[in-house]
Amino acid sequence: MTEARYDAVAEFYQAGWTDTYDDPVVVDLFALLGSVDGQDVLDVACGHGRVTRELARRGARAIGVDLSAALLDTARAIEDQQRLGVKYIHADIGDWTPPAGSFDAVTCCFGLSDIDDLDSAIEVLSAALRPGGRFIFCLLHPCFGGGGEISGSWPTERTYYDEGWWLPAGRASSLRRRVGANHRMLSTYVNDFAVHGLRLDSIAEPPPPTAWSEGELLAAGRFPVFLVGRCMKL
Ligand SMILES: C[S@@+](CC[C@H](N)C(=O)[O-])C[C@H]1O[C@@H](n2cnc3c(N)ncnc32)[C@H](O)[C@@H]1O
Repeated sequence: MTEARYDAVAEFYQAGWTDTYDDPVVVDLFALLGSVDGQDVLDVACGHGRVTRELARRGARAIGVDLSAALLDTARAIEDQQRLGVKYIHADIGDWTPPAGSFDAVTCCFGLSDIDDLDSAIEVLSAALRPGGRFIFCLLHPCFGGGGEISGSWPTERTYYDEGWWLPAGRASSLRRRVGANHRMLSTYVNDFAVHGLRLDSIAEPPPPTAWSEGELLAAGRFPVFLVGRCMKL
């Protein structure tokens, strides 16, 4: 199992990323997902379960999988209080073996750039989907160049074409300063989806937060900041 970087920042993460679903990225994620009522849905890199719980509230039989034991402790504690019927599994998605073809949908909200072994993760999650099932993801746009105190998808001293894990330093990149990120080109994602039988059929590029429309954040707000996508399992 790879290093669970979120164990060290669990309190910070769960305090900042709460059960709210009105920001444009999460709105687009659920719009591309469509109805999950009565469906089996796997939430990959579920963290403390904020998206997994919303899947269950929308009628899904939801399972969350994550590498961070600390975040899963919180997810399970909330489940004990709220009883939404969510199950949580502690695993590296790339090493896990879910029952093949057993899910109608897989979601991954801001998890792909945290996952070190993308190819194994996509292979596993694709195998978990039924034919015709859908994979919905969101992430910081691989083409986001950053600006001011907000770090982009790749280090300023390197180029978009240099892939790899790195630790951003931007003052306003409060999470990524702590856990780092894997930069991959957009083509790397789309081609890996295709290798594992996932056809990208719809994308959304939600706008940056309104606070980025002025002041020192304006420079970053001129770039595509977020990417939300849906793949269909062939
Ligand atoms: C930015 S958080 C997103 C959490 C959650 N999806 C949300 O929206 O709040 C990224 C998550 O990816 C998880 N993660 C990183 N690598 C993973 C792996 N190989 N397998 C499963 N989870 C992983 C981390 O532990 C962390 O919880």
